[in-house]
Amino acid sequence: MQRRDFMALGAATLANGLTAATAADTVPEPRATHPETLTQKPLTFNPKKLDGISEKMIVSHHDNNYAGAVKRSKAIEEKIAALSSSVNPFELGALKREQMVALNSMILHEYYFDALGAAGAMESKLKSMLEFSFRTVSEWENEFKKTALSLSGGSGWVFLVYNERIKRLENVWSWDHMHGLWDSKIILALDMYEHSYQMDFGANAKGYIDAFFKNINWDVVNARIGAIA
Ligand SMILES: [Fe+2]
Repeated sequence: MQRRDFMALGAATLANGLTAATAADTVPEPRATHPETLTQKPLTFNPKKLDGISEKMIVSHHDNNYAGAVKRSKAIEEKIAALSSSVNPFELGALKREQMVALNSMILHEYYFDALGAAGAMESKLKSMLEFSFRTVSEWENEFKKTALSLSGGSGWVFLVYNERIKRLENVWSWDHMHGLWDSKIILALDMYEHSYQMDFGANAKGYIDAFFKNINWDVVNARIGAIA
């Protein structure tokens, strides 16, 4: 039922002798939108200064792929807000699916870009948590990189997460923006979609993964670990 239909229903109700207050209660407000929460975050580092990753590629990734996800998130939210309450479930479901793709793409890209810029060094809390979870830091790094490599030629993400259920860090393989391990906090996110490396590295995904590690902003990663109790 569209908003004007509800208005008509309200008028009819009034005509039947109900009070204005009762009639007003039958008119639902449109679903709220919050475009102010769907704004694009700027890069937090100088894109000219990355080691082995070109300014052209990182800016294109940010301004096209990430910015596109933000714009889609906003457009989908507006579409859902404008839906009639009698919309078919499959129509709503399709939009809700697209909303999850777009919102997750926005959020995951922010985890990725925010931890670039090559600053600081791994601090003791992260180091000891990695050692508890993977035995050694190099075993964690080896598994993280190999998981990333398994996605080369396709698409996806690799995450280092802290999971509340298993109370430790884990490397998580993700085929797309919608795969993840529930009850996890992202510590490090590596974009393995081809758009994130093909311009500079072609099919050389290993070269991209190594370059990503050279450009990690450990200050940001340490802060993410620090926020975990
Ligand atoms: Fe991406």
